[in-house]
Amino acid sequence: MKKLSVSILGTGFVGLCSAVCFAHRGIKVIASTHNEEKANLINQGIAPFYEVELEEILKEVVNRNDGNFKCLVGRKQAILDTDISMIIVGTPMGEDKRIDLTLMEKAAKEIGEVLRMKENYHLTVVRSTVIPGTTRNLVGDTIQKISGKELGKDFGLCMQPEFLAEGRSIKDTFYPDRIVIGEFDKKSGDILQELYESFYGDHLKKAPILRINLESAELVKYGNNCLLATKISYANEFANLAELVPGVDVVQVMKGVGLDYRICERFLGAGVGFGGSCFPKDINAIKAFAQSKGYDPRLLNAVLAINDDQAIHIVDLAENTLNNLSNKKIALLGLAFKPGTDDMRQAPSIRIINELKRRNASNIIGYDPKAKESAREVLGNKIQYANNIEELLKDADCAIITTEWDEFKILKPSKFIRLMKNPFVIDGRRIFSFEEFDKELTFRAIGRVALK
Ligand code: UDX
Repeated sequence: MKKLSVSILGTGFVGLCSAVCFAHRGIKVIASTHNEEKANLINQGIAPFYEVELEEILKEVVNRNDGNFKCLVGRKQAILDTDISMIIVGTPMGEDKRIDLTLMEKAAKEIGEVLRMKENYHLTVVRSTVIPGTTRNLVGDTIQKISGKELGKDFGLCMQPEFLAEGRSIKDTFYPDRIVIGEFDKKSGDILQELYESFYGDHLKKAPILRINLESAELVKYGNNCLLATKISYANEFANLAELVPGVDVVQVMKGVGLDYRICERFLGAGVGFGGSCFPKDINAIKAFAQSKGYDPRLLNAVLAINDDQAIHIVDLAENTLNNLSNKKIALLGLAFKPGTDDMRQAPSIRIINELKRRNASNIIGYDPKAKESAREVLGNKIQYANNIEELLKDADCAIITTEWDEFKILKPSKFIRLMKNPFVIDGRRIFSFEEFDKELTFRAIGRVALK
């Protein structure tokens, strides 16, 4: 049987990682972008953004030179020369917090234009996160209208949500725990299943393929992200409760809760709240969708409100000890939304900095092992940027742990005592031993107050 070939429309985290992983296992892939500079980098084996393991594997597939991988500028040839096109473009949060489907519509139009002149059956797969109805009503209808072809007869349509997390993109692509295929009809689903049977082989014994309709698949992705975000806000709610009872530690409480096999302890980490390119955008998108249908999603409103309040809570902890923030040097350990990435999108550090500024803090300095440049793009001169931990902590009045990088986890109280003007640490990610730090310096931690 002829091996299926794939064009990837979009070269962000999901698009580029999928493309290189497919090519790595012998599937012919044509990635495509409208950005010439980006295409040049990719074709030289250089990753255009930082992601664990991506550059190594990209280099390997480029150097193999076996015709299985290339990146084109523009999408026409990529769609024409392949059997399946995957749309993996951004679906960002608009100014009104609704989903912005501009790039999705553009990609559907491009596929429609190519299919007008293509004779063979072609399968389109939406992999971006989209609100229910988008795949059928926006993508399917647009392709049908522009190509003049018939959906179900001349071309097929699937929606396959993607669950990879930044910093684990390659691992998650090679070893997912399930594959969800939303299908317009059986033929579309069969083709996509055939691709994944050849790509995953034996791994499918551990990762079931779930075949459902398009709209259910679209909603699975929101269901997934909203539940993970709910777990985090739930842990933060309990952190606030734990702080009302001296000596109770939310970390121990969530460990106890998470040991229940029905719950599991992952994503019960209380702290400064969630950020990133997915959770805030996806909850807002599905919330706006629900409201457009006349339903008020009370749980999701609470999840977002608790998350926003964590930044205020952190600044309360600082102000309660320092009294006045205006003439104090406040040091943020970590700026990226999580470790292992330089991504600043919706990072909790931004919310904390905005709240600090609102309360007149003028001397804020941040250090992040990877995100210095990306942070500068977002925060500009709102804060200063340190090159290392020593520079960051020198003469500081308060240190706030905002991202749990490994290099912060090994810090000892003595380092803070030696460098800071007033050794005062707020552990916003619960990386330090409460007993050890509370004994030696002024220490505040999310979800725990001392037994006094
Ligand atoms: C997430 C989903 O995990 C992934 O399946 C989806 O495809 C995209 O969105 P990502 O945004 O890359 O992935 O990061 P994730 O590791 O899920 O963390 C998201 C945010 O939650 C981070 O800010 C992280 O610090 C925070 N978080 C996570 C917590 O505050 N506590 C936790 O226990 C776990």
